[in-house]
Amino acid sequence: MLITLEGIDGCGKTTQARRLADALGAAGMEVTRTREPGGSPGAEEIRRLLVEGDPARWSPETEILLFSAARRDHLERTIRPALEAGHIVISDRFADSTRVYQGAARGDLRALVDMIHDAVIAKDPDLTFVLDMEAGPALARGLARRSGEDRFEDLGAGFQQRLRQGFRALAREYPARVVLIDAARTPEAIACDIAEIALDRIASHIEAGGDVA
Ligand code: TYD
Repeated sequence: MLITLEGIDGCGKTTQARRLADALGAAGMEVTRTREPGGSPGAEEIRRLLVEGDPARWSPETEILLFSAARRDHLERTIRPALEAGHIVISDRFADSTRVYQGAARGDLRALVDMIHDAVIAKDPDLTFVLDMEAGPALARGLARRSGEDRFEDLGAGFQQRLRQGFRALAREYPARVVLIDAARTPEAIACDIAEIALDRIASHIEAGGDVA
């Protein structure tokens, strides 16, 4: 199974991806934890082009192509081999980030995003957690990290608010796959909810005759 975590910048999904990997590992599952943009050596090189520098460095269309190129490499080199080896793959962001960041928040390019996704990725997660919280505190937390990877954070609070709405809309668009999680709580409470839902979905997946992968 491919499980993804999504949300606005600074929503805490990286911490939660780690906790979920620990919880599934403790339950005896083999887990591969990965992230986007990046997750394979080639995609990590493309990542640097995307997250550093001037916010206006790329047009939204160019961005879609770069994120898709990185995702294709990530899928070929990391995700598919791990799934074939029977692992549960947990990815910190995946295609939903492109749907929201490039497809909704920076120009109405969702049709182009969907077209490219269908042509070169054609894979969606089995389960997605959207960590939902107000844009203000999340942005402050993201910028406080001073990671040098703040190209999207630098687009400001209005942009992050549009992103939040975009992720909430995605949960309505894909109710069977996307679970909205209240991320304005303690990391422990959030982790507990996520692990419970994930374990439940994995059990149903196996019952339905699916392989874990
Ligand atoms: P990430 O490393 O998850 O940053 P953070 O930990 O701050 O949330 O992602 C880097 C940035 O790339 C983030 O601002 C979101 C953006 N992004 C897109 O715009 N489109 C995409 O398809 C992906 C995967 C990420």
